Amino acid sequence: MKTLYRWWASLLLVMIIDQVGFAGYGAFYAAHKIDDNTPKAITEHGFDHGFGLHAAFGYFVVLAGLIFLVIGVIAGIGRWRLGRHGVLALLLILQVLLAWIGFGVPAVGFFHPVNALVIFALTGSVAYSTWREAKLAQRPSQAPQAPEPSAA
Ligand code: HEM
Repeated sequence: MKTLYRWWASLLLVMIIDQVGFAGYGAFYAAHKIDDNTPKAITEHGFDHGFGLHAAFGYFVVLAGLIFLVIGVIAGIGRWRLGRHGVLALLLILQVLLAWIGFGVPAVGFFHPVNALVIFALTGSVAYSTWREAKLAQRPSQAPQAPEPSAA
């Protein structure tokens, strides 16, 4: 279960990076559509086309983050790390709320990408520490060896 936990941490991190990339695609798609050389201004349909991937994939990221919490509980990762998982789950839910509210109140949208940075940093630190711990556990003991008895 600990192995699944480690790989899930990495998968979630990659999904978050992709999700940020999809937002970039949506933004540049919209910018491209309103370019002076493009005859038609962007329509709602066009905007949805650019941001559709981000909006849809976002829910999978949130789901993957919540599953990560469940895997963490089953794997018995300990209280401290579970606390970070709880915060991560809350931040992911907040991320959806910020998207919904930001749609009506654009100023709130400011916090959606900023929260994405916090989510990325937190997931990155969880993934890093879990892989590091596994590596350290694999190393042979570094305890000092008793000196060989001399044949004097
Ligand atoms: C952890 C990273 C992120 C997650 C999980 C996430 C999640 C979501 C979700 C679930 C939605 C869809 C809400 C809905 O319409 O039903 C959404 C919309 C949106 N997100 Fe993100 N997001 C992330 C990062 C970002 C970043 C970095 C930006 C950069 C600008 C961004 C910009 C937007 C915008 C503009 C929308 C509205 C799109 C629309 O109305 O169709 N997101 N996001």
